[in-house]
Amino acid sequence: MNDTLTDSEWEISWNDSLSVGVAEIDAEHRQFVARVNELNRAIVECRDKPTVERLLDLMLMEASHHFWHEQRLLALWKYPQRAEHAAKHARLTEQFDRVMKEFERADVSFTWALKGLHIKQLLVDHLLQEDMKYRDFLRQRPHAARSGGGGEAARRRTAETV
Ligand SMILES: [Fe+2]
Ligand SMILES: [Fe+2]
Repeated sequence: MNDTLTDSEWEISWNDSLSVGVAEIDAEHRQFVARVNELNRAIVECRDKPTVERLLDLMLMEASHHFWHEQRLLALWKYPQRAEHAAKHARLTEQFDRVMKEFERADVSFTWALKGLHIKQLLVDHLLQEDMKYRDFLRQRPHAARSGGGGEAARRRTAETV
């Protein structure tokens, strides 16, 4: 497990070790980290179930777009494990659907809070374990990220627009 996440049980802070080196994907991962912290705060502060549900819905909607985007880039980069990675996204999406149904049914705050935390953890684990594998691939083959979407071109585009 990455040190970033063990500093505090409830707060994730972004640092360069989480960067995959592709500006547009890093931006989505940063947004995800912000959502996780928002969700954690809501649960710690015992916010009501509809509030937590709204945050989860938002996080899952963004995750689904992010998965699609990531898969499109992995295909462009000819990442060898892209099919496996896409299968992991599909499995996560199934798990979310199942856990969200359990969340909706749960009426004891302790139970639905745990369901919310479970979804968050599945996403965090995916980022730390699976996404870091393609980061390592890109580090070994920096030219791959430059061929269509992401990489230097994306970093330049982002720098120009900031
Ligand atoms: Fe990702
Ligand atoms: Fe991924």
